[in-house]
Amino acid sequence: MRVTVVGAGYVGVVSAAVLAYLGNRVTCIERDPARLAAWRGGDDPLREPGLRELLQRVDVRFAPEATDLAESEVIVVAVGTPMGSDGRPDLEQVETAAAQIGAHARSGAVVLMRSTVPVGTCDRLQNGPLRAQRVVSNPEFLREGHALRDAFFPDRIIAGGPADAARGVEELYRRIIDRESLPDLDDAERSSAPVPFRWMSAASAELTKYAANGFLATKLSFANEIANLAQAVGADAAAVLGSMGLDPRIGSQFLRPGLGWGGSCFPKDTRALQAIADGMGYDFLVLKAAIDQNARQLRGFAAAIERALRPRSQVGLLGLTFKAGTADTRESPAIALARLLLQAGLSVNAYDPAVRDLPAEPRIRVRSSVLDACEGADAVVIATEWPEFAAMDLRAIRRATRGDLLFDGRSLIAPSSAAAAGFRYAGPTGFVGGAIETKAVTTRLGTAA
Ligand code: UDX
Repeated sequence: MRVTVVGAGYVGVVSAAVLAYLGNRVTCIERDPARLAAWRGGDDPLREPGLRELLQRVDVRFAPEATDLAESEVIVVAVGTPMGSDGRPDLEQVETAAAQIGAHARSGAVVLMRSTVPVGTCDRLQNGPLRAQRVVSNPEFLREGHALRDAFFPDRIIAGGPADAARGVEELYRRIIDRESLPDLDDAERSSAPVPFRWMSAASAELTKYAANGFLATKLSFANEIANLAQAVGADAAAVLGSMGLDPRIGSQFLRPGLGWGGSCFPKDTRALQAIADGMGYDFLVLKAAIDQNARQLRGFAAAIERALRPRSQVGLLGLTFKAGTADTRESPAIALARLLLQAGLSVNAYDPAVRDLPAEPRIRVRSSVLDACEGADAVVIATEWPEFAAMDLRAIRRATRGDLLFDGRSLIAPSSAAAAGFRYAGPTGFVGGAIETKAVTTRLGTAA
């Protein structure tokens, strides 16, 4: 089939590459000239593992505008829906794409909405600019850093819209559903069962995406709460969370405590879900608490660092991306932490294997190695779970630092290894909430705290 993909970000390019791999003729439209030039030059500005190699094997045409919309049977909308100032997604790019598609696409073409949009958006577009086409909500569940694996071996494919579009959409994904001759991706989990394909209303598909991300974020906030409490009562958070996860109803993933969750999806999608609930006059208590807990988790961690240091002390910050395995710094807890530390009058030298400079944050000095960032530091702070930080030579770092504090915001280092290298160690949790906070700081950092 002829497919046009609007938007060459994560979702757009991964969808384009996958659909081309499945045998379709794909054009991917990108209005940002720098990003377009990068893709056209064979570069991957997103640094997504395997994507550049896949694009070399398949035929995706990148173009600045949609000249062949009229020939396309399927049009994928994968433009950004960034968080607006009121917490609701800004739909400007979706509206622009819809107007263009409505004006040029053939009647009956399937418009696959892969951008995350508020519930009701697809039906509204179906009854407005896209009334001649068939609008199908088809949310994606890609994780950055694992996008190809998640696209070729998804846990499920969710889609919803006019009933007469169901078969065509299912056929588009047929080889993925049947797990047929898909590329070798090293760590892909193989299963012979077909991928569940769930067809529903557009509103249900739209809500499924928010519900999934809202639930995962809530799970993380809950795990952080348990870890904080474990700290207070003298229990071992890792033992508790690890044992909880053995119950398949709970599951072992997404239980790693940390300084808070971030990224391009969770903060935006949880706020949007809350806005959807608010808009209906529904008070979504659990979600609100998860969002608040996340902010409190980060503030508590930052406050503990501030309390342990004298004004104008220097922090060696390890990690800037919102998680390991990506170069993405959007809504990164590491950067939010750096801002809080700077506000408190500390200075921050940072290192991240995927970030060379941060033009938008000139006060964070980006260094070229762990040792550079930690040279003369009064405290070392781990903010992203890069494997290289778990394996670093703590003794060499301790020789480079001035102070002996190690704040491990991602539970990467064994406290005993930190102690053996001469560090006083604090993990990411236990720094929120009155009594808990005081006890945690004094027990873990000793009198200097
Ligand atoms: C997420 C969803 O997983 C994906 O399905 C959706 O399509 C987009 O949003 P992503 O933003 O790439 O993907 O990141 P993810 O790997 O889910 O991590 C989100 C945040 O949670 C990160 O800040 C990460 O560091 C944090 N996290 C994750 C933890 O703190 N602990 C964990 O155990 C897991």
